Amino acid sequence: MKKFPPISKDFPHFLHGGDYNPEQWIETPEIWDEDMSLMKEGNLNEFTIGIFSWAEIEKEEGVFDFSWLDTIIEKIHNAGGKVVLATPSAARPKWLSDKYPEVLRVNETLVRNKFGHRHNHCFSSPVYREKVRIIDEKLSERYGKHPAVVAWHISNELNGRCYCDRCAENFRNFLRKKFDNDIEKLNHEYWTRFWSHGFSSFDEIEPPRTAASGSLATGPMGDACVLGLNLAWKEFCSEQIIDITAFEKEAIRKYSSLPVTTNCMPMHIGFDHFKMGKVLDVHSVDLYPRWSSDFTGFAKYCAYHCTFCRGIKEGQPFMVMESAPGINIGSVVYHKVKSAEEQLFEAVDFIAHGADTVQYFQWRKGRGAYEKNHGAVVDHYGKSDNRVFQMVKTTGEMLEKLDGVIGTGIDAKAAVVYDYKTQWALDSGLASFAPQDTNGYFTLTRNLFNAFWDKNIPVDIISYDMDFSKYKAICLPLPYIMTEALADKIKKFVSDGGMLISTCLAATANENDLNYTGGVPGAGLRELFGLRVDEVDYYGAGAPTPNAVIAGDKEYPVRLHAELIVPDDAKTLMTFKGDILEGCPAVLTKNYGNGKVYYIGFNPGLEFLSDFLPEAVSECGIAPLSEITGDEFIRVTKREGDNEEYFFVMNISGTEEQTVSLNESFTDVLTGEKKEGNFTLKGKGFMILTK
Ligand code: GAL
Ligand code: ZN
Repeated sequence: MKKFPPISKDFPHFLHGGDYNPEQWIETPEIWDEDMSLMKEGNLNEFTIGIFSWAEIEKEEGVFDFSWLDTIIEKIHNAGGKVVLATPSAARPKWLSDKYPEVLRVNETLVRNKFGHRHNHCFSSPVYREKVRIIDEKLSERYGKHPAVVAWHISNELNGRCYCDRCAENFRNFLRKKFDNDIEKLNHEYWTRFWSHGFSSFDEIEPPRTAASGSLATGPMGDACVLGLNLAWKEFCSEQIIDITAFEKEAIRKYSSLPVTTNCMPMHIGFDHFKMGKVLDVHSVDLYPRWSSDFTGFAKYCAYHCTFCRGIKEGQPFMVMESAPGINIGSVVYHKVKSAEEQLFEAVDFIAHGADTVQYFQWRKGRGAYEKNHGAVVDHYGKSDNRVFQMVKTTGEMLEKLDGVIGTGIDAKAAVVYDYKTQWALDSGLASFAPQDTNGYFTLTRNLFNAFWDKNIPVDIISYDMDFSKYKAICLPLPYIMTEALADKIKKFVSDGGMLISTCLAATANENDLNYTGGVPGAGLRELFGLRVDEVDYYGAGAPTPNAVIAGDKEYPVRLHAELIVPDDAKTLMTFKGDILEGCPAVLTKNYGNGKVYYIGFNPGLEFLSDFLPEAVSECGIAPLSEITGDEFIRVTKREGDNEEYFFVMNISGTEEQTVSLNESFTDVLTGEKKEGNFTLKGKGFMILTK
């Protein structure tokens, strides 16, 4: 496999550092000097700075003071460290919203927010954009070629939406473009005769809104019953976030060619991360596993999310921009501190799935305000002889031995598709942006992933846009939204010899959430699957299900959805048991061209998928990694480059000792020892091996 270039060609090592706010210590510059020596002492090499520094750089409109930033970047450089430099657009100075209230976001009840918190801005505001452009260009001009600066960090965890008149007008323009300025096309696609919702002009359209109090009992605050419009609004909000990122990148590019990223949060489904990936040079993510609450569960969480991040840029290694060295305060109430073992395991778990950095939030605890007690590499104590600092130092020691891993990738022949549009549409009934997962989309993608990963079968998570031809098997979770163009791409993949595994709800609606008539699967996929879905039984989240699926002497529970399927020329492999579906086809297969499809006519759980998927894909030559095998809790991933192979062996049990069999001879990357034969790994243990 061909290696990917390192994030920084001048620094092909693991960046090990994190978010640093030197401006909070501007009155005590001796702290800056301590930070530099602590960086070296702790085996760290990077600071991410400037994220929330706008007010310190531009104290009043148009008056810029870069002196403190000059000093700190010079200090980092002289200490041998690197800088990931942020644009400060995630939080604005107060003068900006006082003078130009239009930069403030309007919330769903159509009230303009006051100054406060962060992110609270309107992405459509020309003033906001202009002020961001000016400061970004100045930063880029000043530091874009500085030898210490290795990458740009745009904003911070971009998210949210605004309901101001300007955003509403931009939304209408988005729709005008989508429907060639023809309102009748929109009326048709959005089925607006329903409840007298027809529009006579684009001017009449408002962003869909259901504020918390907007039930029929209290009076709706806005309209969210046109599902196509809800979907378009989510798509528009996603594009706005991606567009502002591209806008900032353009400002940076005026003077600097360094790689650009923005840190994403996996659970932020307010934008399409795959589309965002096209704007970025490198993807980055913030991950906060809570090891103490469920060690195995969070090992799986990290594996899934890191695989997702690797998929964003088609296999390219990504940055873990933030992780907590100590407690995480904020989004979760309960987050116990990590043990030294958990800290090391976490770093290895990230890297095993494609991370090329290990960075923290935060470097040093501030003395006041919202995040003063959030875990940090440097505590208020200020010294290095404390537990967390020592843990981080040990992590750095390990990372220094892993240079060879930089740029290596994972060669997977199986993939699971994740489609934001489908996820948004399936959640649309709630008209909510929160990952409610009522339809189990997210859970199902995770279960599909786990069915491979649990057996040490390399697997990718991809979008519909990606090249399918490098895969032998592709899984489609609830492929409810389907276009004809996409259906053609899928058919070609199968007829060229690929294996396609689809679950229920296939090709139900087009890209505007308008249902197909004439039978589903629509969009031409009935021919591929060789069946017609006559009815979908929907049990509701958490509801008891009357049906199960029978496979030989095993029975699998059915959750959420089960379909009444009428086969055309597909062959039935398994049937349902229980009420109306008794004896009806549940799992079907069909050969198509040189390939094969499986159709799973229900929303399957992990137990079914774990038994079914590895066996199905074995027919096309996909197998677990064979070089290293082990007990139930042993997970193995392999990162490879042009000539090298690294094996990450992890015991994802928090407590149980597990046996690992090395079926070839290896060298332990961390100790240099030769290794072969059987080993035991204690709970939370790991090994990094090469041949
Ligand atoms: C992240 C955010 C950081 C910090 C951190 C606290 O989501 O990007 O700025 O707030 O959470 O855990
Ligand atoms: Zn707005």
